[in-house]
Amino acid sequence: MSAIIEIENVVKTFGGIQSVKALDRVSLSIRAGEFVVFLGPSGCGKSTLLRMIAGLSQPSGGTIRVEGRLLRGRDPAVGMVFQSYTSFPWLRVDENVGFGLDLAGGDTRLRHEKVKDVLDRVALTRFAKSYPAQLSGGMQQRVAIARALAVEPRILLMDEPFGALDALTRVEMQTFLLDMRSKDRKTIVFVTHDIDEAMLLADRIVVLSPNPGQIAEIVDVDIPHPRTVDQTERADFTQLRHHLRRLLFSMVRNAA
Ligand SMILES: Nc1ncnc2c1ncn2[C@@H]1O[C@H](COP(=O)(O)OP(=O)(O)O)[C@@H](O)[C@H]1O
Ligand SMILES: [Mg+2]
Repeated sequence: MSAIIEIENVVKTFGGIQSVKALDRVSLSIRAGEFVVFLGPSGCGKSTLLRMIAGLSQPSGGTIRVEGRLLRGRDPAVGMVFQSYTSFPWLRVDENVGFGLDLAGGDTRLRHEKVKDVLDRVALTRFAKSYPAQLSGGMQQRVAIARALAVEPRILLMDEPFGALDALTRVEMQTFLLDMRSKDRKTIVFVTHDIDEAMLLADRIVVLSPNPGQIAEIVDVDIPHPRTVDQTERADFTQLRHHLRRLLFSMVRNAA
């Protein structure tokens, strides 16, 4: 399979009086259709790397290519979902989802069809005319996902998208994402510091370590799909969990 995202020797330094090297020589190839999770402790550069793939910030060194194109800003193939609910509170759910489409212009009827289709995929058809504040946290996050999906990105970037949700809703959303992903084989890059979330979702876990942010290890998750939360008690999950815990704890200890 060919690489859809190609990260080569990426360095990111934040300026200022005390400059911070957030990432140092990170190289990674992501294949089309792959579900990659960036896992690591707070401050190891996960968001920085994701924001650069989104074209929201530029590398200080190295290159990022998307579908072979050298990235120089936002790319239409890439959509992003953040941790906090990023809906517009004054717009109804369907208007929120159609927002990016409205900006892109095009046929009104087609835009309506698209919004209907996406709302159906995230199971929010009944709430099309509600305001985000009237919805639960999980539903609000599905609105944000629907908005990202509406423009049909081939790559979906998600930065701790379920971090603000309570434990039960979080499981519900993880299940939803696994289900969505089994239907359309989108390329997903997902950031989390939660080991179980990483194991449940990923084809490959890229473990990052801090100071400066670097790839510590890449782990293939050879656990068959469909995966469910119940499976996380299986022996292979347990073994992997131990390994990842030890890895993350050693980083925190080294920093202390
Ligand atoms: N805009 C910024 N200006 C200065 N430093 C930043 C900025 N964004 C991130 N950093 C620093 O870069 C490092 C990595 O941050 P971040 O990518 O947010 O980590 P993570 O998402 O893994 O928690 C941290 O040391 C953080 O303080
Ligand atoms: Mg972050």
